[in-house]
Amino acid sequence: MTTTTTAPMHTSSSLRVIVAVDAESAARMAAERISALIRTRPTAVLGVATGSTPSPVYRALQTLRRTEGLDLTRASAFALDEYVGIDPRRSQSYRSVIDAEVTRPLGLDPLRVAVPDGSAPDLVEAGRAYEEGIRSTGGVDLQILGIGHNGHIGFNEPGSAHDSLTRTVDLTPETREANARFFDGRIDQVPTRALTQGIGTILRAREIVLLAFGPGKAAAVARALEGAIERSSPASALRKHRAVTILLDKAAASMLG
Ligand code: F6R
Repeated sequence: MTTTTTAPMHTSSSLRVIVAVDAESAARMAAERISALIRTRPTAVLGVATGSTPSPVYRALQTLRRTEGLDLTRASAFALDEYVGIDPRRSQSYRSVIDAEVTRPLGLDPLRVAVPDGSAPDLVEAGRAYEEGIRSTGGVDLQILGIGHNGHIGFNEPGSAHDSLTRTVDLTPETREANARFFDGRIDQVPTRALTQGIGTILRAREIVLLAFGPGKAAAVARALEGAIERSSPASALRKHRAVTILLDKAAASMLG
């Protein structure tokens, strides 16, 4: 079901794959979809990811804010995850990343932007409260996702139950290795645990847009879309959802059959 094009994204009752000419144009499509949602529903609830992949989406949203007056002041946002035990003021915390890439540049109300509290004394309670926070807003309208090399979404590593909710998880060595680039290349500085929305939490979003760029993501994308739907392949769970768009550059799509 691969579409090779720059065709407009649509929300059908199925999974749709779009291979864009490059990452920037894929990111623009995601930003335009968000912008269209906000126009029809200014109080929309966004699910936001961190990492390298969504950064061009947030930059494209800044452009739309400047050029088309995109107004996110009444929108809410929920981040996917946070490292356990990290000081939220550190630049590597996902709280800081969301502040720097989403809340401030896009003009969201900081009171309407939530990040899991990885420093909470009671992380079980923090997970429960996060679920309740999402529920109390009426649920996520549109969730932006990246994908790990091992197929993780959020920090739901292989083996995560597809109906899991917000909880603490152990990060795999490969995920910590991949994220060492944000910690001066020092894997020993990368926290070993995270508080993450579960796969079940993610699947409750009304619409999901997953982006993946570069050859390093090709195997994970192919397995998610064409392999078995199973716990060892967290992103394969997206095929159970009704409205998923996968936005790829050519390199990330290169292993699709
Ligand atoms: C980020 C997240 C992760 C990343 C994934 C890809 O909040 O939950 O699932 O989306 O690790 O990271 P990048 O985009 O840095 O390759």
